[in-house]
Amino acid sequence: MTEKRKILVTCALPYANGAIHLGHMVEHVQGDIWVRAMRMQGHECWFVCADDAHGTPIMVNAQRLGITPEQLIAESREAHEEDLKDFSISYDYYYSTHSDENRALVYDIYEKLKSSNLIDVRTIEQYFDPTAEMFLPDRFIKGTCPNCGAKDQYGDACEVCSATYNPTDLIEPYSAVTGEKPVLRESEHYFVRLGERQAFLEEWVNSGQLQPEVSNKLSEWFEKGLTDWDISRDQPYFGFTIPGTDDKYFYVWVDAPVGYMASFQRLCQERGLDFDEFWRPGGGTELYHFIGKDIVYFHTLFWPTMLEAAGYRLPSAVFVHGFLTVNGQKMSKSRGTFIMARTYLEHLAPDYLRYYFASKLGPGLADLDLNLEDFVARVNSDLVGKVVNIASRCAGFISKRFEGRLADELPDPALLEKLQAAGPDIVSHFEARDYNRAVRAIMALADEANRYIDEHKPWQMIKEAGREAEVQAVCTQGINLFRLLMIYLKPIIPDTAVKAEAFLQVDPLTFADLNQPLLSHEIAKFAPLITRVDERQVAAIVEASREDMQATEQPKAEDKKPAKKDKDAKAAPEETATVTIDDFSKIDLRVARVVKAEHVEGADKLLRLELDLGDYGPQRQVFAGIKSAYQPEALADRLVVVVANLAPRKMRFGLSEGMVLAAGPGGDELFLMAPDSGAKPGMPVK
Ligand code: MSP
Ligand code: ZN
Repeated sequence: MTEKRKILVTCALPYANGAIHLGHMVEHVQGDIWVRAMRMQGHECWFVCADDAHGTPIMVNAQRLGITPEQLIAESREAHEEDLKDFSISYDYYYSTHSDENRALVYDIYEKLKSSNLIDVRTIEQYFDPTAEMFLPDRFIKGTCPNCGAKDQYGDACEVCSATYNPTDLIEPYSAVTGEKPVLRESEHYFVRLGERQAFLEEWVNSGQLQPEVSNKLSEWFEKGLTDWDISRDQPYFGFTIPGTDDKYFYVWVDAPVGYMASFQRLCQERGLDFDEFWRPGGGTELYHFIGKDIVYFHTLFWPTMLEAAGYRLPSAVFVHGFLTVNGQKMSKSRGTFIMARTYLEHLAPDYLRYYFASKLGPGLADLDLNLEDFVARVNSDLVGKVVNIASRCAGFISKRFEGRLADELPDPALLEKLQAAGPDIVSHFEARDYNRAVRAIMALADEANRYIDEHKPWQMIKEAGREAEVQAVCTQGINLFRLLMIYLKPIIPDTAVKAEAFLQVDPLTFADLNQPLLSHEIAKFAPLITRVDERQVAAIVEASREDMQATEQPKAEDKKPAKKDKDAKAAPEETATVTIDDFSKIDLRVARVVKAEHVEGADKLLRLELDLGDYGPQRQVFAGIKSAYQPEALADRLVVVVANLAPRKMRFGLSEGMVLAAGPGGDELFLMAPDSGAKPGMPVK
């Protein structure tokens, strides 16, 4: 065995803004298999991740849900951790980017970028939503594609004709937050002057740590020349303020990768590890990032630039994988193939999917298809039919006839050696992330093991007098072959391996255990380690996923503009459609009396109203975008119509508990709806 290595591994930090789905799981499973294979070789291998907690979508979603972003990210972190743990992803630490450690690290890196003269500040013009009072990220602006005329396209790219453009190119742009027409507004932004570092980056990219597909893509970007990276966002934003300002925030992609460090720092505190050994140059350690192909730009250009400027080490490699499709198509909510990790776990054990992913994962960027029919067939034929079957065909005789004792010798040591000899190749396939090759090699060995049992037929032998010892020997051989296969499969199906260890009554298996056969040893009574997948279980997952998605749909993704678009993460707010009487009757419209109306400091469009709803309930506060049309003094004592059961929205200025109805296009052409005189506060409007 080689020298003990010290390795730190990360997976991309899931947004704290939606559940973990099977697309995410491709990455966590890929990373986890690698980490487990490293640990089984005796290397010190730490594995950290965290929730990516900042950004506009998280802020807007929290508002829509009527909770604070802090609440949203706390709930999400808990759910994500649970999902990952239940998928047997062996993180040593799972943190959040919204943490003190992360803030301190980000500030330090920013100072170093500044002192390296890599920060530039200048004014730019950007779309602004006057009602929501916020600048709009590209994904929050929609409009008509300037290229093909398709309606309702995002501000960065058209899903119909695939054209990419700037939000200002959209025809008839509107805000995805309020539906309002956005206006152009100037603001000061902070930039990292990436172009300054192009030579350094080109050298890093061409030094052999990246997959060829990735370096080729990067060469294209280098040829075009690197443009400055806009790292600031205006308030309101959920993130870290930029030091020296109180209304500018770091763009989420600044503090996200630093979250790798912050999570590891927490682990260091917990375990007494040396942070600098892993993050300063020359520590003799290795650092690997597992990511999807949509976020290459951030990890191979921005991230190394930040690390280098701040005197940290660079990644030993960035491992990029492709995207998950289901039944050959993009995951789809209506088809029920946008499957959440939790939904899967409610019906099936993680090892099935881990095995299936492994059997299809290679070292490249190719997309990976989860074909549900193939999934059932493959798992049943390989794991149940080939691997576990070996144990189940031998274990019964050992426990019934020989009190659980394995023989003292192997009848066919050459066959065992053959399986042992495959070890170095299989381990190197794991290291190279060529899991499908590892799986093929392991299954070829399983075929040999089954052939051995088929040839010796212990079930026939046992019926013949005087062949007892032979039966024990053949079954001991079978159990030993099974044990080697389980060692090889352990990084992929760890839960099944743990059950196998209990059955074999052995300590946790490592690759070093390949060398020694298990002889003169008592094993436990056999219980099926893994059962067949029933296609009805898969059908139930699809059915449940169809239901899952009908409830809510919110924007999930932060812009990933410089990279290939993350099509899966795109999800738009719900469009208007026809409604039934039932739908309409869900909206509780009430008469209210304006008790008080006043200006709101710092708000261009809003007035704060206090509303009396009579017997219906206590007084409420509503922020209404009617300042351009009404003086607050003119509103006192007026009757208005209010949506009384609207989910409260937390705004920058406070909680808004309802919505006041008005007619008109907006601006100074706004006319409050009011009942005729005689109506009383609290009366229903029908
Ligand atoms: N928060 C950022 C990552 C910050 S890392 C410093 C992000 N989050 S994400 O939730 O959108 O995606 C997390 C990871 O999951 C990314 O590596 C992404 O490529 C991967 N995947 C998301 N959907 C996927 C599929 N459908 N298939 C495979 N991987 C996918 O990006
Ligand atoms: Zn188009």
